[in-house]
Amino acid sequence: MKIVLLGAPGVGKGTVANFLVKKLNLPHISTGDILREEAKTNKELREIMNQGKLVPDDFISEIIWKTLKKDGCKKGFILDGFPRTATQAEFLEEKNIGFDFVLNLKASEEEIIKRLSGRRICKNCKAIYHIENIKPKKDGVCDKCGGELIQRDDDKPESIRQRLSVYEKQTAPLIEFYRKKEILKEVNADQAVKDVLNSALGALR
Ligand code: AP5
Ligand code: MG
Repeated sequence: MKIVLLGAPGVGKGTVANFLVKKLNLPHISTGDILREEAKTNKELREIMNQGKLVPDDFISEIIWKTLKKDGCKKGFILDGFPRTATQAEFLEEKNIGFDFVLNLKASEEEIIKRLSGRRICKNCKAIYHIENIKPKKDGVCDKCGGELIQRDDDKPESIRQRLSVYEKQTAPLIEFYRKKEILKEVNADQAVKDVLNSALGALR
């Protein structure tokens, strides 16, 4: 099954993806995770991301194309963070990469800002936590691997504002694009985690 997760920054795409990959046994392709790894040794990339801007379309499209061509993605995948612009969506069309479902996760802006401000991620295994909603057993320590929990550099208030604005201008128009293709499913992400996960799974039937 080929699934795309659409939705604003902080709506819960990574959280839903981590659940679906286990349930469906599919690879999780998170462009944010790939780029954050790359940015450790690429200052220019780090600056773009920390400011909450998008990296160039051709740069990320090339990465996605190489990833999707790998054997592990032949039977399906969960694509989280791509496409994010009309140019990226067109790139997938040109390469003839279709999807079974595009899940559009929606939550209020107030809830999204709370989620982003309180997010912590594991430096080591990238597991996602929240200081109030999804707490680790021990403060600052990952339940899964014992790694250190850190705040993402782009989860600062000014970067959050920029990311939300970029999303509205550049990514939100893709909702209509996929609705017209009749593969879009809406998921109410303004609920408790377990209810969002059930809604996402239900949308794939
Ligand atoms: P990316 O990493 O993709 O960031 P994003 O889209 O801004 O989304 P986030 O990862 O911030 O949020 P999420 O929806 O995954 O939420 P999460 O599950 O963590 O991209 C980062 C940057 O990389 C971009 O800004 C850009 O620079 C670059 N980039 C990436 N892709 C690109 C592309 N295609 N083109 C160009 N540039 C690109 O959850 C958030 C928090 O909420 C967590 O704390 C979680 O525990 C909590 N939470 C989740 N669900 C719930 C719930 N139901 N109830 C309560 N809390 C919840
Ligand atoms: Mg994410």
